[in-house]
Amino acid sequence: MGVPLLDLKAHHEPLHKEIMAALEQTFRSQAFILGPEVGTLEERVAAYCQSKYGIGVTSGTDALLVALMALGVGPGDEVITTPYSFFATAGAVVRLGAKPVLVDIDSTTYNLDPTKIGSMVTAKTKAIIPVHLYGQCADMAPIMDVAQQHNLSVIEDAAQAIGSEYRDGRRACSMGTIGCLSFFPSKNLGCLGDGGMAVTNDPDLAERMRVLRVHGSKPKYYHQLIGGNFRLDTIQAAVLNVKLNYLDGWTKRRQENAHRYEALFRQHGLTQKGNVRLPWAVYQASGVEHYHIYNQFVLRVERRDNLMAYLKQKGIGAEIYYPIPFHSQECFRYLGYKEGDFPESEGAARETIAIPIYPELTAEQQTEVVEAIAAFYQ
Ligand SMILES: Cc1ncc(COP(=O)(O)O)c(C=O)c1O
Repeated sequence: MGVPLLDLKAHHEPLHKEIMAALEQTFRSQAFILGPEVGTLEERVAAYCQSKYGIGVTSGTDALLVALMALGVGPGDEVITTPYSFFATAGAVVRLGAKPVLVDIDSTTYNLDPTKIGSMVTAKTKAIIPVHLYGQCADMAPIMDVAQQHNLSVIEDAAQAIGSEYRDGRRACSMGTIGCLSFFPSKNLGCLGDGGMAVTNDPDLAERMRVLRVHGSKPKYYHQLIGGNFRLDTIQAAVLNVKLNYLDGWTKRRQENAHRYEALFRQHGLTQKGNVRLPWAVYQASGVEHYHIYNQFVLRVERRDNLMAYLKQKGIGAEIYYPIPFHSQECFRYLGYKEGDFPESEGAARETIAIPIYPELTAEQQTEVVEAIAAFYQ
């Protein structure tokens, strides 16, 4: 039968009329650039993230870029981040002429290991970028401690984590200096193309980012800063204003799917035999469950590449996020890292696999996925 990794058709079909009405309204208004829908979305998303200000931008990548620009990061500066994320996390740092200083991840959460950050801070360090990978918050309390100690800014890369909560109930984007979201279609809140948002509680940084997204101009045609064209389209904001109403329900279904997977994997004895490690094991063991929004459901498995090929053959969608850590990327060779420098990231890159978790996934489809995995390990 087969199960896709993501089913956008099933996701959007029930909203077809509502989304078309929003597009129609935007079309009639002709307010394509920074129309009222953008401001509305900024207020709503900021509030959703327990924050004051939202600045709608072209993508999650540009949210990171604008955030770093607003903080004045540039040549000679260092930014501490993870080797194990989507390229944009480190790419944005390098595009501004700054140097990413990599710190390995925690082997169970795949997020920055906070115990390793302090020793990497130098006089050049400007900021830390923790990534809330797969939809689970990084361990922010110790990260914020290091930042405060050394007077560093913290940019939360929450591209995969809108609405996820740290163990104290604070939401992604509300803990650091600036939080960055992506509305790429595969995200929990996705638009019909590219989109993103930078979120902050700091009114000065919010204003700076607002100015930076229009080429640094304020008033129009007077430039005190050099920015870029980083505006979120009104049509994307209009769609997102519709979709935001459903986000909690979708996240709840992703969480239910995660729990159903847990039961299914245990039923098939896959976790007990050690073939498969489930994503949240550490929190269950310690009795603390973070509010994971499961943008991705990532297993750690034996013989990953063979499993991947097997699933593909069975028509089951799976993906590797991410096969090559930053320090092994060709374009970052100049940073001087070598194989073996970040063993946890390298291990995760070798052994993890994402399986379907999208909200519309049915119990039958989940059974098909787990039975296929069980058949592989028989
Ligand atoms: C962790 C992370 N950071 C940044 C981005 C960049 O977002 P976008 O694709 O919207 O530019 C993504 C998107 O895939 C991401 O997953």
